[in-house]
Order: sequence, then structure tokens, then C-alpha cells
Amino acid sequence: AQKLAILTSGGDAPGMNSAIRAIVLASLNKGYQCIGFYHGYNGLIEQQFTELDEHSVNNITQHGGTILKSARCPAMLNTAGISQAANTLRKLHISALIVIGGDGSFHGLDALSEHWQGTLIGLPGTIDNDLSGCDHTIGFSTAVNTATRAIDKIRDTANAFERVFITEVMGRHSGHIAFNTGIATGAESILSFENCDVNKQQHIVTQLLAAITEQRNKHASFVIVLAENLWPGGASSLQAQLNQHTDFNCAVCILGHIQRGGAPSSEDRMLATTLGVAAVEYIDELLLAASSSPAPIMIGQINGQLTQTLISDVLKCNKPVASKWVQQYQHYLSAK
Ligand code: F6P
Repeated sequence: AQKLAILTSGGDAPGMNSAIRAIVLASLNKGYQCIGFYHGYNGLIEQQFTELDEHSVNNITQHGGTILKSARCPAMLNTAGISQAANTLRKLHISALIVIGGDGSFHGLDALSEHWQGTLIGLPGTIDNDLSGCDHTIGFSTAVNTATRAIDKIRDTANAFERVFITEVMGRHSGHIAFNTGIATGAESILSFENCDVNKQQHIVTQLLAAITEQRNKHASFVIVLAENLWPGGASSLQAQLNQHTDFNCAVCILGHIQRGGAPSSEDRMLATTLGVAAVEYIDELLLAASSSPAPIMIGQINGQLTQTLISDVLKCNKPVASKWVQQYQHYLSAK
């Protein structure tokens, strides 16, 4: 039987297990053997793998994390590591490799394609939702739900104390999580890459102070959703800048890795399952046609339709936050 391989790489995302399950079950149904490499590309380089069968994927779809473990892999940044990874694929007679991860993981796929002739497929798996070629990445929906619930809770205590809260959300260098959670929770302020020029820090602080003062006159709380990596010095620095000018006691809550864990939402499970099956069908068609492997692609979904995008195109630019959200927020939904 032909062999397919899977690995999960980079920041884990809820729904990765659902994708693994779908790939394994679909592969077995098509008569393929399936193996999983552990710890992202490290397992490929160090030949740490396991055979995956229906028992391996039993009862995993509802769990966050990834049964194959994940890691970042600096060795994939140099030729020695990449060719070692390619050697493993040759040695194990693998026909196709599916990598579930984000843009760092896709750089690895791109590099691998120069050293190995088999079929390479990426599935978008990151809570950040910053990959072009898809509406949503696997894990984004769960992360937004988790952060939304957390900020709702912060709102309760913020209301009780008429307090200002800075809640920092993940997203690396993009504001998908910030805008989605900020709008979903009715945050008074969203500070993210798409709407903030941090070279104008003082101006932003002045505007915030004015909006906060107005809100406090109404005896209400004020929640700021801050994108990680945006503010120089981070959330605590913004906190100090706000506290410096007033008597109020602004609190900080960094949601952090909580956003990466937990049971995947049904949206993430469905998306991951759809993309996993689509990946196996794509491989099956190529293998049946016995055609040479095309350049690596990412399989995603846009408006409910499956899409195939060259990995090299996915890597050209990150998907921006829809401008309608940024504009609607700026014009109607923010505290003035
Ligand atoms: O890419 C997913 C992500 O959770 C980002 O949102 C965040 O910036 C980063 O990974 C954190 O990485 P680590 O877990 O290595 O600290």
C-alpha cells in the first residue's frame, strides 16, 4: 500500500486532532497506510513516527492539542535539516506528506519541495487566522470563543468595580483574534495593528484617557482589547501610561495560551474534518493519475467552497483583517 504521512507543526490549534482523525480514516478507506511524525518537523528529521490506524484516532476529535505533539523546528531553516527530513520520507517510501500548521510550517513545506519529489500539502492550522487562501484557519473559531468567554468574565468584575481593564489577546502580528473578540464582547477599545500606529503612542493614550473619563462618568467599566506584540513594552507599559495620568486603577489580564487549548468548537471540528478528507482525495487523484507531484498547495475553504492555493502564494502575504470590521468598529462601535 502507498503511504501517507501527517505532522502537526508550530503553535498547536484546537481542531488539529479532528484533522488527523479525518486524514487517517479517509486514508484507510482508500487503502493507504498512514503514519504520523511526532513533534512537528523534528520527528521527520529524527525519524520519530508511529503507524496510525482507526484505534489511534478513536476519541480524539473532541480534544484540543495534538496527539502527534507539536514543536517549532529551527533545523528546518538550514539545508542539512531539510535534506535529512527528505531522506526520511524517501527511506520510509512515503508518497505524500500533509502538514497541519501555520506560516512557519509552510515555509518548511516550501523548502522540502526542493529536496523531495513526493506530494506536499498544507492544511491551515493556527489560532491566528492569518493565512491567505482560506476564510478561517483550524483553531481560530475556538480561540475566539475562548477569549470571548474570558473577556465576558472580566467584564463582570470590571463592571462591579467600574474599572478599566486591558485584556491582551494572541494573534502574533495580526488582529483577527483582537477584532473578533473585541467586537463580540463589545469592548470599548480595540488596539491592534490594523487601527493603531504605535509611533503615535501619546496621541492614542490621550484619546483613551478621554474616552475612559467619559465612560467613568457614566459609572461603567472600560474594556480594552490589546493585540499582543503591538504596544512597545506590552500591556503593562500601556497600563503604566494610563495610570500615570489619572487616579483610576487600570488592571491587566493577559489571556495567553489559554486561547490555544480546550475542546475545539464544532466549527473547527467540521472545518478540520472537511479539509482532512479533501487532502486525502487530492492525493488519491494524483496517485491514481500517476502524475508527477505538483508544487505544494494549501487546501482551504472560502465561502464554503474548497480551495487550493500554492503554498508559495500563501506565504506572499498574511491575510488581512476584513476592512469592513476595522471600519465598522472605527465608525460605530468604539468608545469616542
Ligand atoms: O501562532 C500561534 C501563537 O499562539 C501566536 O498567537 C503566539 O504569538 C505564538 O503562537 C506564541 O508562541 P509560543 O507558544 O511559542 O510562545
